[in-house]
Amino acid sequence: MKPHDSAHLHVTGQSEFVDDRPASQNEVFVTVVFSRIAKGRIKKLDVSPVKTDPDFIAFYTAADLHSNRWGTIFQDQPVLAEGTVEFAGEPIALLVTRDRRSGERLRKKIILQIEPLPAIRSVREAIAARSFIGSAREIKRNFDENVFAQAPECIAGHLVIEGADHFYLESQAALAYPIEDGQIEIHSSSQHPTEVQHVVAHALGLPDSAVTTVVKRMGGGFGGKESQAAPIATFAALAAHKLNRPARLILTKDDDMIMTGKRNPFEIDYRVAFDREGRILGLDAKLHSDGGAYADLSTSIMERAMLHSDNAYFIPHMRVQGQVCRTNYHPHTAFRGFGGPKGVAMIERIIEEIAHRLGIDALDIRRKNLYSDQGGRNVTHYGQVVENNQLSICLERAAEASNYERRRQEIQASNQRAIENGENTLRGLSMTLVKFGISFTTRFLNQGNAFVICHRDGTFQVSTGATEMGQGVNARIAQLLAEEFSLPRDQFRMMPTRTDKNANTSPTAASSGTDLNGAAALLAARKLKYRLSEFASKLLELPESRYPSNTAGLGTEAEILISAAPNYTDPNEKPESFGVVFEKGMVYLKRDPQKQIHFASLVNQAYLSRISLSDYAHYRIPGIEFNKLTGQGRAFLYFTQGAAVSEVRIDRLTGEAKVERVDVWMDLGRPIHEGLDLGQVSGAFVQGMGWVTTEKLFYSKDGLLLSHSPSTYKIPNIQDTPRTFNLNLVPNDENYANVRGTKAVGEPPLLLALSVWTAIQDALKQLPRYRDHYPRISIPATQERILRTVDPDAFKQIEGSAFNEFVV
Ligand code: MTE
Ligand code: HPA
Repeated sequence: MKPHDSAHLHVTGQSEFVDDRPASQNEVFVTVVFSRIAKGRIKKLDVSPVKTDPDFIAFYTAADLHSNRWGTIFQDQPVLAEGTVEFAGEPIALLVTRDRRSGERLRKKIILQIEPLPAIRSVREAIAARSFIGSAREIKRNFDENVFAQAPECIAGHLVIEGADHFYLESQAALAYPIEDGQIEIHSSSQHPTEVQHVVAHALGLPDSAVTTVVKRMGGGFGGKESQAAPIATFAALAAHKLNRPARLILTKDDDMIMTGKRNPFEIDYRVAFDREGRILGLDAKLHSDGGAYADLSTSIMERAMLHSDNAYFIPHMRVQGQVCRTNYHPHTAFRGFGGPKGVAMIERIIEEIAHRLGIDALDIRRKNLYSDQGGRNVTHYGQVVENNQLSICLERAAEASNYERRRQEIQASNQRAIENGENTLRGLSMTLVKFGISFTTRFLNQGNAFVICHRDGTFQVSTGATEMGQGVNARIAQLLAEEFSLPRDQFRMMPTRTDKNANTSPTAASSGTDLNGAAALLAARKLKYRLSEFASKLLELPESRYPSNTAGLGTEAEILISAAPNYTDPNEKPESFGVVFEKGMVYLKRDPQKQIHFASLVNQAYLSRISLSDYAHYRIPGIEFNKLTGQGRAFLYFTQGAAVSEVRIDRLTGEAKVERVDVWMDLGRPIHEGLDLGQVSGAFVQGMGWVTTEKLFYSKDGLLLSHSPSTYKIPNIQDTPRTFNLNLVPNDENYANVRGTKAVGEPPLLLALSVWTAIQDALKQLPRYRDHYPRISIPATQERILRTVDPDAFKQIEGSAFNEFVV
């Protein structure tokens, strides 16, 4: 299997990121001056102490912008704060200096006075103040209060889910070059080059056509560079535009973490009705999220949370309500999984609670509630049929391969012994599932375009709207095309994403990068292949002496004429072949395999016959019809599914949790590149583990993020990865919905890390104090939270102290 196309460059340090671009003559550096309090009125902004410094070049505020509004869904956010600030970390002004060191140095001398105003610091405060973003949403099916009144069993609960930082290795970065005639070219670390282009053009008062965004690659994005790269690029572009000099802006890790939004924190209230066998009868859930100070993508994130509140389970009577709250934190944003992980956390917690209440193993509760093709139990609460259902296969494979039943008994016995003998170690075992909807829930985003160029030596350059952030979208698209022409993958070079080649693109997000752009590239390639096939079918009939290479220059032979290629729309439709076969770099007629021509020679002959060797295609996902007003319809093209079994070991004295073993089984359809996909599964799982265990955001009383570096914010490291980590794919050739029968992988495995969280609670519920009630623990289940759950009384003595105030 071929490695990631940048692997050799990454390991030898040759890959180029924005800040690796060489400094140009006259280049300037942009440093952001931001608020350090959550809410206030700007009283004074005095730059005079630095104006005479030889390194000082310029200083810009909102007054220097043509337009000071941006926002992906609602345009409610200033590019630079004006008059008041709404969150700690909010950009107020731009300091332009000769280099980055002087930027840091001079920023400290600028006099900024902000008069504090009362801030909203939690979802609860926002609800009390009715401080909301967007309107309340509701999705329901057969909702009926009587179901709850008459149910044999009911549980009500509250779940707190905190945010998390994306912790990409490359901070937000942009480098803007002024070009002749007022144009700007911006090299941006962005998942959404088109939005960068539009936000910059709007802010500077330029037509979109004067701005070109270029994205070579990102050192990770994870959703954090979907919307939030745009203002960063605008800051650099403003300086470049005003000064007519290249402008570089690279945030330090600390500034990046303080300024940029995180995964939305959620607070969820739920009520579930169920029978004595553990079958769910009804669910009523109210989701509130912390959107931060501005809308960003939070309403769309909430929608995905609501659409994933069923996860893998059929719930006959269901109502889910959602409301985004406006608070005074950084505007929270997309993060791998979007809202999905929050909805799924709720229902997986509910399953565990039902199991605990009834004394039935949670795996059996899952089995009983799984979506199934039988008995009408295959329609979601938003009315979409769960097609190509692989949930039961994933569940059973994971249960069997992990020896779930045997280990359950063994772990129960070992916990019993530990409790009797006063030993410290408790073990927990849990399975959770994922059914992640693939498509943007906003219909117009489900489109992509691609430009495929074949050169005369038979090598290709491929440009699409997809951005590479390490996930391997480039390698997958190249692989798709290589298969189409039966050529080595190395013959396909994926070009940097540029808005002057691929315009009006969607962000590389929602795990759909390969689905959208791979399909577009394939459709473009098919048009080219159609022409080459028809051409070859005629060329190969001729003796070589009459080939264009021998005759075109002399004009002695009539040109080979071909028809126009059809506009393909379905990437799974087999195109017309004209009886021509492309095989291992050679091309021949099916009926005469003896006479073959090299692909490169064929291409050259086609060029000499004035046949176009490049093509463009646009792809739109068919058949998705989700009505946001009624909350009903086919929201997704298909579902990526999976199951994971996690075993954890917790230390009752320290609260430390270790993940001992994880078995993952996922349905990824027919993977284009299994190695890359398994890389995504392991990366997403471990990233999810960080979110549910150690990654805790601490804020000061003024709302300033205190945990803004790796020394204070604990992401998983190699020691934290599961001791045994078995990753497996369920073979599935039956997914006809998507290009080449593949399924998207980028986000879904992150949700399987919830099995680590439920396993921690599984271990804790062995404690005698939790015999009658489930040990509810928030996300993240930090070491301290685990310790508090083990022995809540031990913490009574520090209640009210400064130490205690950080903990929910
Ligand atoms: N993998 C790496 N290495 N780096 C990333 O930033 N982002 C994830 C996922 N995998 C990410 C990653 C997120 S949040 C998404 S939505 C998808 O990749 C986006 O790419 P795709 O649509 O091509 O899968
Ligand atoms: N993930 C899932 N759905 C989305 C995203 C994302 O990053 N962006 C918009 N819809």
